[in-house]
Amino acid sequence: MGSKSLFFFAVLSISLAFSPPPAFAENEEITGTDPGLVMNFYKDSCPQAEDIIKEQVKLLYKRHKNTAFSWLRNIFHDCAVQSCDASLLLDSTRRSLSEKETDRSFGLRNFRYLDTIKEAVERECPGVVSCSDILVLSARDGIVSLGGPYIPLKTGRRDGRKSRAEILEEYLPDHNESMSVVLDRFSAIGINTPGVVALLGAHSVGRTHCVKLVHRLYPEVDPELNPDHVEHMLHKCPDAIPDPKAVQYVRNDRGTPMVLDNNYYRNILDNKGLLIVDHQLAADKRTKPYVKKMAKSQDYFFKEFGRAITILSENNPLTGTKGEIRKQCSVVNKHN
Ligand code: HEM
Ligand SMILES: *[C@@H]1O[C@H](CO)[C@@H](O)[C@H](O)[C@H]1NC(C)=O
Repeated sequence: MGSKSLFFFAVLSISLAFSPPPAFAENEEITGTDPGLVMNFYKDSCPQAEDIIKEQVKLLYKRHKNTAFSWLRNIFHDCAVQSCDASLLLDSTRRSLSEKETDRSFGLRNFRYLDTIKEAVERECPGVVSCSDILVLSARDGIVSLGGPYIPLKTGRRDGRKSRAEILEEYLPDHNESMSVVLDRFSAIGINTPGVVALLGAHSVGRTHCVKLVHRLYPEVDPELNPDHVEHMLHKCPDAIPDPKAVQYVRNDRGTPMVLDNNYYRNILDNKGLLIVDHQLAADKRTKPYVKKMAKSQDYFFKEFGRAITILSENNPLTGTKGEIRKQCSVVNKHN
């Protein structure tokens, strides 16, 4: 390099080092407009938001107890699929299939009551509170209605603009998935083995339709099932191919079907788990020690459950200026 070009190089690198960042590089980190998820994100923009949601969850629970099951299941089906962005709530359009209509979403219900909550919030603070925060906070308050722990959760999520139906199966395990796959999927979002064992405790409430069970009953009965429970299952699911129009199902926890408690763990240790994943949880040597510990201690179950729900609820959210605040939870906003 000659001295002339060396001089030129020096001037160039100095001017590069001191030039201000170009305007288009202006981002949230620099301007500080994105606090990410925080406790009580709406304290200035809509101070009543969390109270309205809590009130609505309570009112709905009084009228339809199973709404709380739905709020709990929603947090898994939305947040475990790449992001807590309320993509789960979008309806199908001419161009895209909704997540709700995929096979993994079978049995999800009560979406219209989530709209009820959103409408109540919109009446007070139009266009401020995201559907994804409503989905997460309704799960938090639904867990309390079911007798579970109160889990403080952050807010500030924004809503996505697309369905994730086409990649859903890569994230949500099937009812008959191996424990290795289940543990891998959750570990990819930071949830460890006791966390997975605690989350599956959600199957202490609600129901499972016969279509998800009949392969354990017909053509022959899964020998791992408890014979006492088989009798009940056959009674509830009398056909190898369930009539799709008849709503045939078995309650997840016959003992305390409406309460989120550690009875689930005693059931699965007793070979009364309905799904193959439930049964595997109690059989696999990686998960069984935690199943036993949670069967003995409700406190331990709740502690791990709270920790895992928190991680799940913070999975890769849209914050700051990303995404949007949907006006209606089942459709993306127009003109955007
Ligand atoms: C390996 C993971 C999981 C699998 C394969 C799985 C699968 C299923 C299936 C097949 C049903 C029955 C649906 C029906 O027939 O109506 C169900 C119900 C349910 N699941 Fe899961 N689930 C898993 C994890 C979770 C997690 C992590 C949660 C929440 C934290 C959850 C919450 C629920 C609830 C509350 C119900 C009852 C819903 C109702 O009665 O409406 N599940 N699950
Ligand atoms: C799991 O069950 C589905 C039907 O729900 C079936 O198509 C699939 O082959 C099963 N997978 C395994 C690994 O058994």
